[in-house]
Amino acid sequence: MNLLTLHRDEARHAFFEERSSSAPFFDAAMGCWIVANPRHIEQLLQEPSLGPADYAGPYEQLTQKRGLQFPNIQFASRHLPFCLEGAEHQQSRRRIAGHLSSRRAMVIEEMQDFVDTAISVLDRGRKVELMGDVISPLVLHAFRSMAESPFMHSGDFAASSAFFDRMLGPKKRLQLESKLGAIRSELRGSVDKISENEEGVRLTLFLAGYETLIGTLGESVYSVLRQHQAAKLCDVPFPDFPPQTGVPFIERRVAESFEFAGVLPSAGERLRFYLQALTYGDAPKAGIFGFGSRTCLGKQLSLEAWRIVTGALMRTPKRFRILEYEVRSDNYVFTCPKALLLETH
Ligand code: HEM
Repeated sequence: MNLLTLHRDEARHAFFEERSSSAPFFDAAMGCWIVANPRHIEQLLQEPSLGPADYAGPYEQLTQKRGLQFPNIQFASRHLPFCLEGAEHQQSRRRIAGHLSSRRAMVIEEMQDFVDTAISVLDRGRKVELMGDVISPLVLHAFRSMAESPFMHSGDFAASSAFFDRMLGPKKRLQLESKLGAIRSELRGSVDKISENEEGVRLTLFLAGYETLIGTLGESVYSVLRQHQAAKLCDVPFPDFPPQTGVPFIERRVAESFEFAGVLPSAGERLRFYLQALTYGDAPKAGIFGFGSRTCLGKQLSLEAWRIVTGALMRTPKRFRILEYEVRSDNYVFTCPKALLLETH
């Protein structure tokens, strides 16, 4: 079993079924503990002995060993809640939550208008590539509006999975550094007299929300449609909650050794939590947005986006057929369809 690509492998279904009641186990190839039991995921994500994953560490090593400089990564690690702990983490969350609540109503209204127009291609009876024609542009539009940065382009957002990818080589890490630099200068050019904290909030939104939302909407729409091939879109029973996730796993680092379910993770070791396991059977599905003090701040907006996209599909009295579905194979962090081509008639 290759755990590096498990999240997009058909073999994952058998893996999650087999592991649904197992204890965490250490995988030597991945160099970390694997947690795929939904009950353990929920309990452990609230375990105080676990701290955030070490996203900045590999960059610090490159600076020490090779003299490479990463000022934008350093900026991100001072502002992203994923990298912070204690009071700093809470303050960062408060700033992000405040920004989101001030923009949410407007962003939802804009998403609704955008989808109504984009989805009208289905009424004309033709092929539509849902990812490229509807979902990705919708999320790009929403994030530009949320960050008040109208000229941000989709290439800038590819930084998102790279930030969370611990397998990147030095060249890709340098590319990410310059991408973050480009996003930051775009932000400074768009928002008058932007403070460092305001810049940090917007950078967090891009890195945390853009690819995750595109992936979750795409994977969830596909998983429902594939079960209703040849039905009318208006008859497809889309659930209220997205049934799949674009965030297949998250990680933590052990701050202090502790015992759990007969195993002993030691200080400094990593744990990988397969949130994808929560999409099966009666697992707590809301957990795809995390548990405990680091729960997703974009959950409400994501559920609105799901409601808007599926609502528009369910207003379409056309039969559909899936002509093509392909999952992105260049992404080792998030799951996201590369293409979801429908034919309607
Ligand atoms: C449907 C798509 C999304 C999914 C599945 C998702 C999932 C998650 C998960 C699992 C976490 C917890 C990470 C952890 O515990 O390490 C998280 C955190 C977070 N999410 Fe989301 N997310 C989504 C969309 C968004 C959006 C659209 C935004 C912003 C608008 C956002 C902002 C955040 C932030 C700021 C955190 C950090 C919380 C912290 O570390 O304290 N997310 N998300």
